[in-house]
Amino acid sequence: MTTKKILCIGAGYVGGPTMAVIADRCPQYQITVVDLNEKRIAAWNSDELPIYEPGLEEVVARCRNRNLFYSTDIPKGIREADIIFVSVNTPTKTFGCGAGRAADLQYLEKTARAIVEYADEGKIVVEKSTLPVRTAQAMSRILHSNPKGLKFQIISNPEFLAEGTAINDLENPDRVLIGGMETPEGQRAIEEVVAIYANWVPRERIITTNLWSSELTKLVSNALLAQRVSSVNSISALCEKTEANINEVTAAAGRDSRIGAKFLKASIGFGGSCFKKDILNLVYLCGYYGLPEVAEYWEQVVRMNDYQARRFVGNMLAAMFNTVADKKIAILGFAFKANTGDTRESPAIAVCCQLLEEHARLRIHDPKALGNARLDLEDAEGDISYCEDPYDAVKGAHAIALLTEWDSFRKLDFRRIYDLMEKPAFLFDGRNLLDHRKLYEIGFNVYPIGQKALTHF
Ligand code: UDX
Ligand code: UDX
Ligand code: ADP
Repeated sequence: MTTKKILCIGAGYVGGPTMAVIADRCPQYQITVVDLNEKRIAAWNSDELPIYEPGLEEVVARCRNRNLFYSTDIPKGIREADIIFVSVNTPTKTFGCGAGRAADLQYLEKTARAIVEYADEGKIVVEKSTLPVRTAQAMSRILHSNPKGLKFQIISNPEFLAEGTAINDLENPDRVLIGGMETPEGQRAIEEVVAIYANWVPRERIITTNLWSSELTKLVSNALLAQRVSSVNSISALCEKTEANINEVTAAAGRDSRIGAKFLKASIGFGGSCFKKDILNLVYLCGYYGLPEVAEYWEQVVRMNDYQARRFVGNMLAAMFNTVADKKIAILGFAFKANTGDTRESPAIAVCCQLLEEHARLRIHDPKALGNARLDLEDAEGDISYCEDPYDAVKGAHAIALLTEWDSFRKLDFRRIYDLMEKPAFLFDGRNLLDHRKLYEIGFNVYPIGQKALTHF
């Protein structure tokens, strides 16, 4: 049997880890990952991978230059491949029609055009990037505009990995979704992609559907997850007014097996590259198809998320005598969640910008995300320093705002931190991570999310 060749176009957060795990689990396939970005490819070929993901280094080390290759030679990759995964970025459009909502498909379209230009034979093209429903149709039109008369099969195989747990999610997925056309050729293409995953995923976890269901499922999964977070966060506001405790409420409600216990943690809001983008995409699609009530329903999930960050800053101001001007605030955590250096759409960005507008002085610490934090706040005006050491960040601070649930924050010496801070010392726990009673006993005035504040006055 000849070795099957897989190409992945786009070496980012999705393409990188996904191809590493496929290479690891399928030694009989040869996998090449290409990208326009030379620096990124160089990093994938070095000891400093371009993204941080627990377990990724080990997987890459096992496969690189065995059956996993990184390259910038896109034409060669396209010519040689049997199956092409497309995993380029599809950000929200920032200009023109649909700006702020619709997906910007220019990178995807350029990729499709490159495939047409360089392919000498028909291939299976797999959409891996998150896309609006019916993108495959546009993709198919471009691919079939080729003068050589080549036939392509388009498959939708959305990725459900979460950052920070990508390798585990890929190795033990809840499900793998593969959608294709309901024609004999479409079904054969589905089976080719099923055959890849069947190397390590139990067959009953591999779901096959039509193309459009698969494309829509990706948007719906993220929308439902984000909606849970916004629903809980909305209730956290009510808890703060009523002395109900959000942790008790969600723990008890989540015991209903119809509701489920996971993904019910109150926070300063969801971030990450997917949730907001995918919901806005859904909102745009509903508007496009003449369903304004449906669009409005989902848009509220994003509005509630923005409100939660604003509400957090509002609570800080109210607690600190209605002003943070000239006060030092230690920001603990900037990544959009723990175990990643990624800060895309992190609620920390909104919180920090609002605090800077109030003329607060920020001392930001994050174990992995300081580089990205610097870029995110490049254009923000005000007094900002970035601290590798959390104890430097809290020195002389009036308040701590904990914005990411890093486990290392639990292990900090809060007695020492209290001594380093201005008094009264305030701690706003935007993730309900810490032991609030213990902090209160040390002397802090503690403000959790969705729970009664513990204050000394
Ligand atoms: C998400 C989806 O989980 C994944 O399936 C999809 O492929 C990509 O988008 P990711 O963005 O990596 O993954 O992170 P996720 O763990 O889902 O968290 C998203 C945001 O929601 C984070 O900011 C997180 O802090 C927040 N969150 C999550 C909460 O505030 N409360 C929760 O209970 C869960
Ligand atoms: C509900 C709660 O389930 C129960 O825990 C609470 O104590 C009282 O309210 P009930 O009203 O008897 O119970 O019915 P339930 O089975 O929850 O259904 C409520 C409505 O939702 C029904 O009209 C049902 O047809 C509808 N439904 C339910 C759907 O349309 N889709 C679903 O997936 C589930
Ligand atoms: P995701 O989170 O969806 O993986 P990223 O932005 O991390 O998104 O990665 C997408 C990658 O796709 C980037 O490294 C980008 O350089 C690459 N890319 C975008 N357009 C093209 C293209 N036409 N050809 C090759 N690579 C591309």
